[in-house]
Amino acid sequence: MKITVAGGAGYIGSHVARRLVEAGHEVVIYDNLSTGNRSSVPAEATFVHGDVSDPLASRKVLAGSDALIYLAAWKAAGESMTDPVKYSRNNLQATLSFLDAAHDAGVKYVVFSSSAAVFGEPKYLPIDEDHPKDPTNYYGFTKLEIERVLAWYDRLLGLKSACLRYFNAAGYDPAGRITGLERNPANLIPVVMEAACGVRAKVQIFGNDYDTHDGTGVRDYIHVTDLAEAHLMALEYMEKGGKSFVVNLGTGKGLSVLDVVNSAAKFSGRDVPYQIVGRREGDPAALWASGEKAKELLGWVPRHSDVDTIVSTTWAAYKANGLVR
Ligand code: WQD
Repeated sequence: MKITVAGGAGYIGSHVARRLVEAGHEVVIYDNLSTGNRSSVPAEATFVHGDVSDPLASRKVLAGSDALIYLAAWKAAGESMTDPVKYSRNNLQATLSFLDAAHDAGVKYVVFSSSAAVFGEPKYLPIDEDHPKDPTNYYGFTKLEIERVLAWYDRLLGLKSACLRYFNAAGYDPAGRITGLERNPANLIPVVMEAACGVRAKVQIFGNDYDTHDGTGVRDYIHVTDLAEAHLMALEYMEKGGKSFVVNLGTGKGLSVLDVVNSAAKFSGRDVPYQIVGRREGDPAALWASGEKAKELLGWVPRHSDVDTIVSTTWAAYKANGLVR
């Protein structure tokens, strides 16, 4: 198939694009490079520099595409609460504009990058697809709204879609082919890497008084290689006649902040400086997914999402960027 990957120069998008190229698809990357890295785009893919909010450029790039993988959105939950209009413009208005351009261009299948943030505070664990959706941040609200639009577009337009709710995306291509780092990261794993490299003075651990095995926050870290595989499986499922669906993508178990810090110390051979500070507003103590539906529907099984593979492949990316002195 000819597949447009909107946001395909980004951290997750570039791993997805590479997997689609490996599977023999014709891949067009559409990205404004606001956060992505041009160097992360596979050589076999066609790169088109542009913004999803541009209707004419969107129609042009989507011409002839059978499928769309949509990953072009802002994803900082905290920022979405202080600058909601930025998230309305990109995650809602521009996303809807691009989906409409995709439908006009005759695209048949959409794989949408959604998030665990649609659930909000966990009512039970592991979080399955039936868990109540009550986002606690505007970012999660924007993801849930697009999921709802896609359900209507399936019903009214016959536009098939797969909404994939990522839990905490992490890790890097084990073969080292993608090494683009996030600029000014706020997520735990890049912050820990920067502290291990000495690029950052220390990790601020947001609370160690949670009801978890070591008191620090627990999350379901899913390797981007496993996420990329799920995107390919979702496309193949719909192409073979499968109906639209929504699945959670997580490992079914959680890792604590200190689990990550300890693994980083092991692979870096250094002490990772950290300081325990107060809890971050809005943080649940623990959050992890049930991946059972993705396994039943797609046969998807995460194989790279153990803490050591996640941390060691990330450390390798920091070394490849010359940050390990
Ligand atoms: C992980 C754990 C923190 C930074 C966010 C978004 C979510 C999704 C994934 C896109 C928590 C702790 C973190 C630090 C810390 N994004 N932490 N010190 O908040 O689980 O999820 O990213 O889909 O929508 O909300 O990820 O990496 O910020 O935090 O102690 O400097 O690490 O308290 O327990 P989070 P995170």
